[in-house]
Amino acid sequence: MDQISHNDQHKPASRVITGLRPTGSLHIGNLITSVARLVELQKTQECLLFVADLHAITTPYEPKELRARVIDTVRLYLAAGVDPDKCLIFVQSEVSQHTELGWILSSLLPVAELERMTQYKEKTAQHKKPNLGLFSYPALMAADILLYDADLVPVGQDQVQHVELTRTAARKFNKAFGETFRVPRPYVAHDRARIIGLDGKGKMSKSLGNTLNLLDSPEVIGKKIRKAVINPERPTSFEGAKPITIFELHDQLFPDVQTAELSKQCHRENRNCKDYKELVAQNLAAYLAPIRQRYAELAAKGDAYIERFLAANADLARARAEQTMQRVREASGLR
Ligand code: TRP
Repeated sequence: MDQISHNDQHKPASRVITGLRPTGSLHIGNLITSVARLVELQKTQECLLFVADLHAITTPYEPKELRARVIDTVRLYLAAGVDPDKCLIFVQSEVSQHTELGWILSSLLPVAELERMTQYKEKTAQHKKPNLGLFSYPALMAADILLYDADLVPVGQDQVQHVELTRTAARKFNKAFGETFRVPRPYVAHDRARIIGLDGKGKMSKSLGNTLNLLDSPEVIGKKIRKAVINPERPTSFEGAKPITIFELHDQLFPDVQTAELSKQCHRENRNCKDYKELVAQNLAAYLAPIRQRYAELAAKGDAYIERFLAANADLARARAEQTMQRVREASGLR
């Protein structure tokens, strides 16, 4: 398997790119599994991060809300610790080279390969009449990655198949038109725990409504933790990662004597759970407080602040993408 594990991160610097869906909200599971990884990677690798708004429109969405979600997603990642000086953050649709290269790659990729994509099959089951964009989603994703000569693509397990297809696209192009693209690798942190939802029913996920969100107030955190399931039945398969509850995550984050004692009493002897939960709620509220604070500071500057930041970054991204496109147009005979 051409995947590398989390522990390989101290290899010579390479270029990392990842795309985010503009969900406009993040939960603590996202923070631990995906944001924290980017925050680590940006220290040693060249980093690009974009909001995949063109991918977002392949499934039903609210046009009036889309841009606000894009802005909010950027704000959240900044609040959660992605450093804009280390990581170029931009919006996909503001760099038109993505769609241009997406088209060129879609003219190379066999339909049969796209038909095999699990995400497409799953989404097709949900959306009775899938659109063409949903089908060619991986061609655009390949363009996102290949435009910037990235070599590492941090993604969840569900996106690995798309990165594999990106490799296929790069190889096909190189073979047909001469060495043009670097062939990237997916980067999956298999050793990173997955967080079980507060209801104890499988993965923590926005769509299941069982999340602790980064922007939840201490009151909301208190309420949610008081109701959270302490010893759920453990899912056996969890995308290859070990599933842990919010309480186990807490105990890892706060490994002190008081925590250990109360945790043991509650988990093993089923006593003092009320006190334990209060402690967990307090600690998690304190843990998330700096993120809420930074988010509030950014929000106070208004959307215009983020818009300006994104406009400047789009210029930088465009300049880089255009260099690649010149190579691509020449190689493929368009110029
Ligand atoms: N498809 C990814 C997801 O759903 C988002 C994405 C779009 C992406 N383009 C990408 C991720 C390029 C990595 C690289 O999460």
